[in-house]
Amino acid sequence: MTGSGQSVETRRLSVDPHHPDPDEIEVAAAVLRAGGLVAFPTETVYGLGADARSSQAVLRLFAAKGRPADNPLIIHIGSIDDAAHLAREVPPLAHRLMDRFWPGPLTLVLPKHPEVPAETTAGLDTVALRMPEHPVAHALLQRAGVAIAAPSANRSGRPSPTTAEHVWTDLAGRIDVLLDAGPTQVGVESTVVQVDEDQVTVLRLGSVTPAMIREVADHVEVHPHARGVEVGMDEVVASPGTKHRHYAPSVPVRLFEGDDRIEALRSAWVQARDRGQQVGIIATDESGLTNEHVKLLGPRDRPEEYARGLYAALRALDDESVDVILVEGIEAEGLGAAVMDRLRRAAKG
Ligand code: TXA
Ligand code: MG
Repeated sequence: MTGSGQSVETRRLSVDPHHPDPDEIEVAAAVLRAGGLVAFPTETVYGLGADARSSQAVLRLFAAKGRPADNPLIIHIGSIDDAAHLAREVPPLAHRLMDRFWPGPLTLVLPKHPEVPAETTAGLDTVALRMPEHPVAHALLQRAGVAIAAPSANRSGRPSPTTAEHVWTDLAGRIDVLLDAGPTQVGVESTVVQVDEDQVTVLRLGSVTPAMIREVADHVEVHPHARGVEVGMDEVVASPGTKHRHYAPSVPVRLFEGDDRIEALRSAWVQARDRGQQVGIIATDESGLTNEHVKLLGPRDRPEEYARGLYAALRALDDESVDVILVEGIEAEGLGAAVMDRLRRAAKG
């Protein structure tokens, strides 16, 4: 592919999520080393990988996703030691966070090493690093021997992909290889934090919660934007990606919060039906709602199930061509806060 969206043949390889076949991993690794694009599973969502040190490969990646050039990429690494080649310095607090949470769904924003091309960090002086836990991601990083820049493997603006099928729908014909290892575990993207000396600022909520980070760091704050405070398109923000339209299916999403959310959702449902609209619903098991377009994502007290199923449910309802999606909110605590962050953004889109 030239990067202008011209079609390439995408090879889809099935791999065992726990014990991937080294020969298949090598096929993907060779493509990465040659500057190609490989979609692969992580524990959070599928990523679309390119050699992080190759400006050309990274430019192809932006084109394949249709991603705005001002939105920097997360660089995935196979060991903590690799951070020293990508970050200009790794402060002691960042090391403590790596020791505690890597491999896993925590991304650290650190001062950029001069060798990282400007394309990868969208011209920023910082670099985002993460060491994923998924055995397939880990094997790919080991075999490739290069750091892998990887945003979520969706077309820009769409919900992140939690299955290989989602990746296929968005990117077949635009990428070289898709490693299919079944659905991902966590379902929402990694927690992104900026580390400045003894201060940790959460730029994007995820399954590594502020409370968990406080076990290692004394000063942890959540950036206003990660708490849902509105950010204008031309405002300079710490995490540029969060200002772009995100997590959204192509139909309107309405989110219901508060004690009377089920009643409010039911009456919105009735009204929409009376207008002749097809209504999709995402709710907890306790909602008691049933219909062909209702997706129940588990009990209220298990936000991890809500997180795991959320993007697949949004995509499925999109495919079912409903006119509007009504969503029951959950308690914005722990992982629930990350889920609600994504839902509020989807509802704004
Ligand atoms: O779980 C994940 O993080 C997945 C998997 C594939 O690892 N990746 C992912 O990447 O969600 P992406 O590109 O969809 O989201 C990356 C986020 C964006 O909001 C981006 O703006 C932010 O990280 N980011 C990247 N580099 C940054 C930097 N230097 N400073 C601040 N934010 C940065
Ligand atoms: Mg993304």
